[in-house]
Amino acid sequence: MTTIKLNEIKQDMIVPLKQPPWWEGAVFYQIYIRSFQDSNGDGIGDLRGIISRLDYLQSLGVEGLWINPFYPSPQVDFGYDIMDYFDIDPQFGTMADFEQLVSEAEKRQLKILIDLVLNHTSDRHPFFIESRSARHSAKRDWYIWREPAENGGPPNNWAGFEKSSWTFDRKSGQYYYHFFYRQQPDLNWRNPAVKEAMFEVMDFWLDKGVKGFRLDTINLLFEDEALRDNPVTDEVPEYLKQVLSIKQLPIYTIDLPENHHVIKALRQHLSGKGDEEPVLIGEVFVPTVRDLVPYYGDRGDEIQLPFNFFLSNVDKLSAASFRQVLSQDSEYLSHYPTTTVLSNHDLPRATTRYASEENSDAVAKLLATILFTLRGTPFIYYGSEIGMRDRPPETIDEVQDPRGKLDWPDYKGRDGARTPMQWDNTKNAGFTKGSPWLKLNPDYVQRNVKAQLANPNSILNYYKKLIALRQSWSSLRRGKLTLLGEDPSVLAYVREGATPESNSGAGHSGTRSEFESQPLACVAREQQDDPILVLLNMSEEKSLFRGENFEPLSQKAWKVLASTHSVATENFPSLRVNLKPFEGLVLKSD
Ligand code: GLC
Repeated sequence: MTTIKLNEIKQDMIVPLKQPPWWEGAVFYQIYIRSFQDSNGDGIGDLRGIISRLDYLQSLGVEGLWINPFYPSPQVDFGYDIMDYFDIDPQFGTMADFEQLVSEAEKRQLKILIDLVLNHTSDRHPFFIESRSARHSAKRDWYIWREPAENGGPPNNWAGFEKSSWTFDRKSGQYYYHFFYRQQPDLNWRNPAVKEAMFEVMDFWLDKGVKGFRLDTINLLFEDEALRDNPVTDEVPEYLKQVLSIKQLPIYTIDLPENHHVIKALRQHLSGKGDEEPVLIGEVFVPTVRDLVPYYGDRGDEIQLPFNFFLSNVDKLSAASFRQVLSQDSEYLSHYPTTTVLSNHDLPRATTRYASEENSDAVAKLLATILFTLRGTPFIYYGSEIGMRDRPPETIDEVQDPRGKLDWPDYKGRDGARTPMQWDNTKNAGFTKGSPWLKLNPDYVQRNVKAQLANPNSILNYYKKLIALRQSWSSLRRGKLTLLGEDPSVLAYVREGATPESNSGAGHSGTRSEFESQPLACVAREQQDDPILVLLNMSEEKSLFRGENFEPLSQKAWKVLASTHSVATENFPSLRVNLKPFEGLVLKSD
């Protein structure tokens, strides 16, 4: 072995420690653009509205902004039906507004991520117009066209947003496939030209300065070529029940292995673009936590952050149910970065799912404690930081979301979770000077940003505190999670140490075991890595946490870092802790 003297060390011999990618430590904020802030009085939120609220977002402490689709669109599915992937719908602003948004965001260390819909276009996209124009059109094979069944009906039993996912085109005598509404025909990803067209879209937006993409329904790109029927079920499959009402197991329409080929190609296409590799956040629908693993890629070469919806699928506030999901996460995802999602634009808000109006604010704080202390990268759905609740439509005439119209009254659609942001208690909550596209929740008079900024004990100030904590404690961001006990009311866990730098494949590739043996990279941002203990009373009764059962934790003294309620003591020399209804405590070992 040759030895080198200290004075012979040259700069290029030093192997720099790999910095974790920015998104691993970030908190994300989802902006449903229609409902966030209107700037021109048309009752619909827009890009200039977002620009006017960037200071607010910066003061929250978030770093990544995911904006729901703003492309030109007939708005059948509120922007998820895209007519032109290279422009902005005039109701949301102009390209100049978008460019300004990116540059104003950059000044505030905020990164813009956009929604990208690759599975389908609008039926008014020029590709589809050409495709449907004739059986022999040059773009016929860009979509999925099939002959009718023998009886003239749809080719098979596949269903999605509509009862049949096939729509007959009288002119050409064939059916086209659409997992979502008939105005959203599925692209044919077996045609390589589709891939090339979509790569161009990504490059266009990366050049505009976006730092990543939220990939819409990314594991629905392929369907069975033999068109086999999906098995029929008695109930809507558990993992889909929040978003669909189909009574079939979609084994031939969702999660086909071919999706991985496209995702890998897409990731490879992005590699080396920009100063830092763009981040992919994927909406994937899979039956179990374990099924998420393949979406990271066998060499960390697919999606860096597949959405993990399993907590949001839990339909009651129950320590046992949350624990069950978290133990699955620990079993399968402990070496992968994951996400924590409690609400989004497709689900009833978590406050509405888990709380009555009376205990809503307490539950909102409890949920915030969960959101920012789990391993997963937290995603805040706009308005959660003030504890917004759903306001579902009261009559079918009020419904905007076609899903609500199709399934009324069994399911009222997604409007309830998409009501305008509640900024203050003036008319229309400061969202618009015009007439809002959806009725506001009348609770805005009390529940609004302005009031909560002024109240030190508000949900909003609690969010800020927890975000700051997450940013200063590496144990919270990257520590492993250990669940404690099986108490029916109290969910308890410890976050400690730090897992090896993620298996995200950011800047490197390797097998899982290689990642596991990699040394921990140093992170400049913060160095506080003491164990953190989180206690959450998920019941409306008082509960006692008996920490004496958990050695060596019980040997330590603990100090309160954050609490949902005001606390009588900041220090817990022993771990017998009385918790008030819905109380959450974040403690550090002293
Ligand atoms: C995703 C979106 C949802 C939309 C659907 C079809 O699930 O989150 O809002 O309706 O895709 O694009």
